[in-house]
Amino acid sequence: MYEWSADLEVGVETIDAQHRELFKAINSLLPGEGEASPAEIPGVIAFLEDYVVNHFGMEEIYMRRLSYPGYPAHKNEHVAFITNFYDLRDEFDADGSGPAIADKLARFLGDWLVNHIGKVDKALGAYLREKGRT
Ligand SMILES: [Fe+2]
Repeated sequence: MYEWSADLEVGVETIDAQHRELFKAINSLLPGEGEASPAEIPGVIAFLEDYVVNHFGMEEIYMRRLSYPGYPAHKNEHVAFITNFYDLRDEFDADGSGPAIADKLARFLGDWLVNHIGKVDKALGAYLREKGRT
């Protein structure tokens, strides 16, 4: 389980709300409370794929509109993530969507997200707040 906590907040409500949604969907692929049934797993993965792409798009619009100097590096992280995500998704499709690969995908997503939030999204959040976007 990936526990949401205040130190993961970037201070921009739209971004934080989407991160919390992502945590919820990731956790539903892991054992424990709110765990998706095997039949629900493909739907959760399809949701995550869409949601992640939209979420990155929103951050990138903020970065471009407000001329964020860290935009190219931040965008590169998103692109690299999506490539890895699709590789895992292919594995998932080829394996007949078993819980083991769902678990692997969830851990990859969760670990990446925690690290990405701590490093680059927080820096972006600070910049956006400085520019008056909260
Ligand atoms: Fe980001």
